Amino acid sequence: MQALIDTDLDLAAQLLIDGQCVAIPTETVYGLAANALDKSAAAQIFKIKDRPEFDPLIVHVDSMRSAMKWVTDFPDKAEVLARRFWPGPLTLILPKRKEIPYEVTSGLETVGLRVPLHDLTLQLLEMLDFPLAAPSANPFGYVSPTNADHVFDQLRDKIPYILDGGESQIGIESTIVGFEEGIPVIYRKGAVTEEMIAEVCGDVRTQDHSISNPKAPGMLTSHYSPHADVEIITRFIRQVRDNEGYIAWKELPKGMEVKNKFILSPTGDLYEAARRLYAGLRLLDRKGLVRIFIELVPEAGIGASVNDRIRRSAAEK
Ligand code: TXA
Ligand code: MG
Repeated sequence: MQALIDTDLDLAAQLLIDGQCVAIPTETVYGLAANALDKSAAAQIFKIKDRPEFDPLIVHVDSMRSAMKWVTDFPDKAEVLARRFWPGPLTLILPKRKEIPYEVTSGLETVGLRVPLHDLTLQLLEMLDFPLAAPSANPFGYVSPTNADHVFDQLRDKIPYILDGGESQIGIESTIVGFEEGIPVIYRKGAVTEEMIAEVCGDVRTQDHSISNPKAPGMLTSHYSPHADVEIITRFIRQVRDNEGYIAWKELPKGMEVKNKFILSPTGDLYEAARRLYAGLRLLDRKGLVRIFIELVPEAGIGASVNDRIRRSAAEK
């Protein structure tokens, strides 16, 4: 069996109804989707990704109204955020109803919910009478996919279908927000930034987390990581060997000659850098390099989220 790549919504829906996994496009990254109410379908996701059981899945719905069906409480601030940012790159952690199995939430009483901003996937969700559990469609720990070819590269013999929705327009995973005493707490940075949340909610905190933090299971320090060693540039380097690569923010350092290079955004646009980061890491990683040097981007707005992914991809494995 080899995965088909196409845009047939009826076929994608039928496979999902049959309990199979299908890769779906979203504005952040591609997801590996299955029926979120079916524990054996969810179990397949873990198996295909080789994902540890303690790492909960995000559940995708077509609207805030649908989201409300799967939670026991939707705090005021969650509602404000949902109204402002859904559909969009924001996941809200809320207390789950019993219909969402523990296999999806890794035993937690909460569920991560999001309405993705992508026409095809929204249409698909509207066709189905169940929500879709979907982590990023990559083997656990590797760089997330931002187009159908990325998914095919790694999961071609493990899934029947990849719904092709073009390039992901955001390019890094959603912002994850939980609520502690009613106050929003950012567990994972993304395109919806702390400033944007503060603007509509007032109070907000960002909680850096790792595997040792029970509030954000699965947020490993090392993640989003290619096979090559990734090294963040902290000083001027003179030479990059032919078995090494260099990812620059806007341009290569003056006078540097590099065979394997990638520029995140020649125009210095942080959104473009977010959109292209994973494609750049994959492109260079496919060359079998031993090391990829990478520059951080300016730490402003979505830049902080891009840097978060760069740091995780460079963290000790
Ligand atoms: O942009 C995205 O969020 C993409 C697309 C496909 O929607 N999905 C994604 O899923 O990035 P994944 O599996 O790679 O990340 C899921 C993370 C978990 O590792 C965990 O940190 C957090 O979401 N999460 C999920 N449910 C949670 C819960 N109930 N409590 C705390 N964290 C949760
Ligand atoms: Mg992931």
